[in-house]
Amino acid sequence: MRYNHCMAKKKRKLVVANWKMNPLSLTEAKQIGKSIRGHSRSFQSKVVICPPFVYLNELKSVIVKDKISLGGQDAFFESKGSFTGEISPEMLKNMGADHVIMGHSERRAMAETSEMVAKKVLAAFKAGLSVILCVGEKERDDHGHYLAFLKEQLSTSLKGVSKKYSAKLSIAYEPIWAIGKGHEAMTPHDVHQMSIFIRKHLIHIYNSVAAGEIKVIYGGSVDSTNAYAIVHEGEVDGLLVGRDSLNAKDFSIIVKEVDK
Ligand code: PGA
Repeated sequence: MRYNHCMAKKKRKLVVANWKMNPLSLTEAKQIGKSIRGHSRSFQSKVVICPPFVYLNELKSVIVKDKISLGGQDAFFESKGSFTGEISPEMLKNMGADHVIMGHSERRAMAETSEMVAKKVLAAFKAGLSVILCVGEKERDDHGHYLAFLKEQLSTSLKGVSKKYSAKLSIAYEPIWAIGKGHEAMTPHDVHQMSIFIRKHLIHIYNSVAAGEIKVIYGGSVDSTNAYAIVHEGEVDGLLVGRDSLNAKDFSIIVKEVDK
């Protein structure tokens, strides 16, 4: 795949900690947050910690201006009202978060469609949040159907989302087969191929200027041993880290590998 690197502006790297439904207690959450904060003095990348909603308020103390910020793991597309169990982007913003993960495969597995994701992404932008939009195929096939799937997932998840928000958008490419315990990360070479593919499709959806502002990051079994190669050989703008973001020391090493 040919790709002109001038199309993508050099961007500050982004490392997102997706804590998912962990840890079990607020005490532990505060410990991990505090410890990541303790390592942050030398961080060059922008770090976003996404804890469960219930810990957000207490984790405000880990925010370090321009270095560490907080994000939600999802948000609804309405700002308030009768939507039991939902959290709105405005609430996240009011709670001190400035990012939100949307369309994570674990949410899509719970019947969240790309159409719903697009409404959520737009609502989040309108509330002033930056969005980390997750996409990724469940499996690969020899005929390249997964590429068509990915294009369609990206297009539909961004339907109605104006290019004026491009500087606040990150696409997290997370092949589902590489996520979680017992799986292996994608090779840096394949990450590179996929980041080019996604960037080309973003140019198709928007234009090269807007697409050049969008970050493309990788997620799926990232750890301190593979982070460097994935980012620097894979030529992505950062990482989305699940499991290893709950270990402050490992997560901080990941950030430093990205910074190199
Ligand atoms: P993992 O999770 O790093 O544990 O594979 C990544 C993710 O699901 O965002």
